[in-house]
Amino acid sequence: MVTMSFHLMNTSIDWALLQQQARAASEQAYAPYSHFPVGVAIQAGSGKIYTGCNVENASYGGTICAERNAIAAAIVAGEREFQALVVFTPQERLTPPCGMCRQVIAEFFTPESPIASCNHLAQIQQWSVGELLPSAFTPLYLAQSAKVETRKLFDATSATEATEATGPTESSN
Ligand code: THU
Repeated sequence: MVTMSFHLMNTSIDWALLQQQARAASEQAYAPYSHFPVGVAIQAGSGKIYTGCNVENASYGGTICAERNAIAAAIVAGEREFQALVVFTPQERLTPPCGMCRQVIAEFFTPESPIASCNHLAQIQQWSVGELLPSAFTPLYLAQSAKVETRKLFDATSATEATEATGPTESSN
C-alpha cells in the first residue's frame, strides 16, 4: 500500500541540486579540531532545500553534525516531512550519517526515505533510512506507550519540610 501523502508523490527529488547544495554547505563547516568538514542538504516535504554543516566545539562533546543542523534549520522553518538527505564530504571514502544522526533522521523521515552520501569525485552511495537504522525507536513507541510513574527528583511537600527543619542555608546569621 502506498502511504505517501499527495504533495510528496508530486515532488521529484533533484539529486544534482542536493549534491551541489551539500557541497556548498560543507564549505561553511566549522571543523578546526577534526579537519573533517561535512555538508548536508535536505529536501523537505514542501520541496524546499535546507542545508547544514558540522559545527565543532572546544569541549568536543558540544559538536553538532551537519545532518542535525540541517534538520533543525528545516524544523524552525516549519517543515515536518522530509523526502531525501544528501551528505557531502571531501573524502575518498563516502561518509554515512553517524549513529546519533541516524536516530534523529528516523524521527522525521520514513524508513523508505533515501539518504545519500557523495564526494568531490562525484561518487554517490544511497541507503534507505531503514537500512541505516533497522528496528528504530520512533515516536510511535511513546505515542502508544503505557504511562508509568517513575521516581521524581523531589516532590513539593518534602522539599518544603526539609527547608523548615534545617532553615535557610548560609544566608542567615
Ligand atoms: N560529522 C558530521 O557532521 N556528520 C557525520 O555524519 C559524521 C561526522 C562531523 C562531526 C565532527 O565535526 C566531524 O564530522 C568528525 O567526526
